[in-house]
Amino acid sequence: MISVRNLLKIYKSGGDAVHAVDGVSIDVGEQEFFVLLGLSGSGKTTLLRCVAGLERPDGGEIAISNTLVSSAERNFFVAPEGRGIGMVFQSYAVWPHMTVYDNVAFPLNNGPHKLSRADVKKRVMNALEMVQLGALADRPAPFLSGGQQQRVALARALAVEPKVLLMDEPLSNLDARLREEVRDEIKNLSKKFGIAVLYVTHDQVEAMALADRVAVMSKGKVLQCAPPRELYDRPSSREVCEFLGATNLIDGVVNNGGQVNTDLGQLNCAVGDGKLKNVSVAIRPEEMLLSVTATGLENEFAAEVLSSTFLGELTVCDVKINGKALRFKTTQSTAPAQQVYIRLPAEKLKLFSR
Ligand SMILES: Nc1ncnc2c1ncn2[C@@H]1O[C@H](COP(=O)(O)OP(=O)(O)OP(=O)(O)O)[C@@H](O)[C@H]1O
Ligand SMILES: [Mg+2]
Repeated sequence: MISVRNLLKIYKSGGDAVHAVDGVSIDVGEQEFFVLLGLSGSGKTTLLRCVAGLERPDGGEIAISNTLVSSAERNFFVAPEGRGIGMVFQSYAVWPHMTVYDNVAFPLNNGPHKLSRADVKKRVMNALEMVQLGALADRPAPFLSGGQQQRVALARALAVEPKVLLMDEPLSNLDARLREEVRDEIKNLSKKFGIAVLYVTHDQVEAMALADRVAVMSKGKVLQCAPPRELYDRPSSREVCEFLGATNLIDGVVNNGGQVNTDLGQLNCAVGDGKLKNVSVAIRPEEMLLSVTATGLENEFAAEVLSSTFLGELTVCDVKINGKALRFKTTQSTAPAQQVYIRLPAEKLKLFSR
């Protein structure tokens, strides 16, 4: 549905040149919810703006619905209004001097295809019902809450019945509860409409909740592109691993027997790559196992609980093993200064070269 090939976008400021997007290739399938995830400045917005036609790339090609819309090499460029896309951005960009209805109707009345008044009305009311704002159609846009304004922006994008929807941090101005509500709404609507979505966020939880696939970006490049579960369980690099949720990292050296010598002691784990020497061993806080008495199983260490924070469904602990502090999540109850045994199951350990 969206195909991006070797995309390059360079910003020149003074004598400096920033490679904001540096050779990115992605493919968003029909009806796929595709999320770009990355730290601030990693190039997410720039990539999205290139797809939207708001930026002219310096290299590479973009096609939407198998139609070329941008090719730097062939000096070819289709303007945003010719790309058949809907857009929702971080600032709601709801027009304050208009009613809710007029906001949603605007792109329909000013778009490339002329629609009858009755058709416009039908589409607007449909879109507003969809985001549960039908009852507020006549209200001036400023008299809405932040979440409602965000939904107006969403309705406005959906009303043009795009095949492709581009969204840049559309939830970042909402409070936590509303963010979840609108997030679920976006997901449901995108599936219901069967549209392809390219969605930008720096929020890992949001990405996991929404995405069919996530591309993790850093410094203008895609580090890894995979479904959320795969990214979480099998990150291709330490950077991706750290980006998707809390991770304990333990430095060590692979010994001749294929184990890793670390500050904790010797760890048994599958050292797939024979060339690995200096490594970081990664394990997530919820993957470690706690026992009050020693079980005698491999990779088990005596530990002291340093702190224990009860968060309702689980408890987050910091534990110390041979002087090294690790974070640990459990549903068992623990108390500071308690002596316990912590096991790092071999199959959960990930090795990254240092
Ligand atoms: N108009 C511009 N002129 C010069 N440099 C720019 C411009 N827009 C973005 N950049 C630079 O390009 C890089 C990528 O920026 P971009 O806005 O794409 O990042 P982002 O991943 O969307 O970040 P954030 O999460 O903060 O929104 C950054 O280094 C940024 O400073
Ligand atoms: Mg951005």
